Amino acid sequence: MEFSAFGEKFTAPSGIAELMDDLGAALAAADPSLCMLGGGNPAHIPTLQALFRHRMEEILRIPQQFERMVGNYDAATGNAAFISALAELLAQEFGWPVGEENIALTTGSQNAFFCLFNLFAGAFADGSFKKILFPLAPEYIGYADSGLAPGMFTARRPEIETIGSDLFKYHVDFSGLELSHRIGAVCVSRPTNPTGNVLTDQEMARLDEMARACGVPLIIDNAYGTPFPNVIFTRARPFWNDNTVVCLSLSKFGLPGCRTGIVIARPEIIRALANLNGILNLAPSGFGATLALELVRSGEIIRVSREIIEPYYRARMEQALGWLREELAGLPYRVHKPEGALFLWLWVKELPISSRELYVRLKRRNVLVIAGEYFFPGLAEEWPHRHECIRITYSQEPEAVQRGIRIIGEELRRLF
Ligand SMILES: Cc1ncc(COP(=O)(O)O)c(C=O)c1O
Repeated sequence: MEFSAFGEKFTAPSGIAELMDDLGAALAAADPSLCMLGGGNPAHIPTLQALFRHRMEEILRIPQQFERMVGNYDAATGNAAFISALAELLAQEFGWPVGEENIALTTGSQNAFFCLFNLFAGAFADGSFKKILFPLAPEYIGYADSGLAPGMFTARRPEIETIGSDLFKYHVDFSGLELSHRIGAVCVSRPTNPTGNVLTDQEMARLDEMARACGVPLIIDNAYGTPFPNVIFTRARPFWNDNTVVCLSLSKFGLPGCRTGIVIARPEIIRALANLNGILNLAPSGFGATLALELVRSGEIIRVSREIIEPYYRARMEQALGWLREELAGLPYRVHKPEGALFLWLWVKELPISSRELYVRLKRRNVLVIAGEYFFPGLAEEWPHRHECIRITYSQEPEAVQRGIRIIGEELRRLF
């Protein structure tokens, strides 16, 4: 059997496919000795799970709610009641001038990025070819293989600020950063997967200014940000204007199984996404939207995110960072300042093997992490730093996180 060029491209090995394979195998094996520090699954927070269960029971109890949720296709932009409630919430909470015409739902935000990147980059009718610019790599592994055309991404190395004895922070290197006519859109995740970085308000303002000046959108991946799930431990001004495309998701709120992505953008972009939804999915799933509807209508989604989700992950982050500091004491390591998301980004200076080899060694010992080299989509130049980092997820069972970190320490000590 032979696949088309499309088939060849999308069946080639990729970081995100490897990650999801690891995740699926780990779930299927249900092996208690496995330390799953590799995936992006949110934690199962009991208060939240009780809330989702309660919502589901309400849906089952109220006549016709369940039947409508499973028995109808929504519109191509997604569940109308949810969109209307969300527009109101965003206007109220942040003063964003958004209405229903500014919002589309997608089958998870992963799907939104595939559509957005291919809308704004690739071959254009005038014969030009444009790319998506990631102004700061490392960036989310899931972007890397989502271009229909080869070579659709370009990225820039960051500036590195060292902080104290064992932390560091990446900053956008604005020196020499220019947006040429070859850039179709700029994209950042904030908080950033894999590093937990939160780009500063000043960095965002500058990127926004540059994107506007060039007439291209600034895409902000807010999968971990405010107003939900609010896995963010630092002050950051939420940001939207008619040149930005803000992507939200219900996944890290605790509903990754519902596959609900949310895009907030100017109406032209929303209409394009609705068209793509129609072609790719007919309509996005209404399951997550129905489950979360009352939480959005009442504003409860914001309270829960602030009062339950943020403190929960902050405590988990501090605990994991503490373990890492104990296990790696004396080794030449630094951790990216954890400002949000579910990960610690560990940098081992002059690591004598590649992070990919470290991943393999850890996997042999039943510890799954992600090798750092996958997180530099579009960065063409060689840079030793990209082989010196791994991403460690701290959202899973504390006992497994602690054991995994201990084994990471043991493996690293063999190398130094
Ligand atoms: C930064 C970032 N963006 C987007 C996604 C995609 O999430 P989903 O498709 O579940 O909304 C993820 C998932 O881990 C992520 O970490």
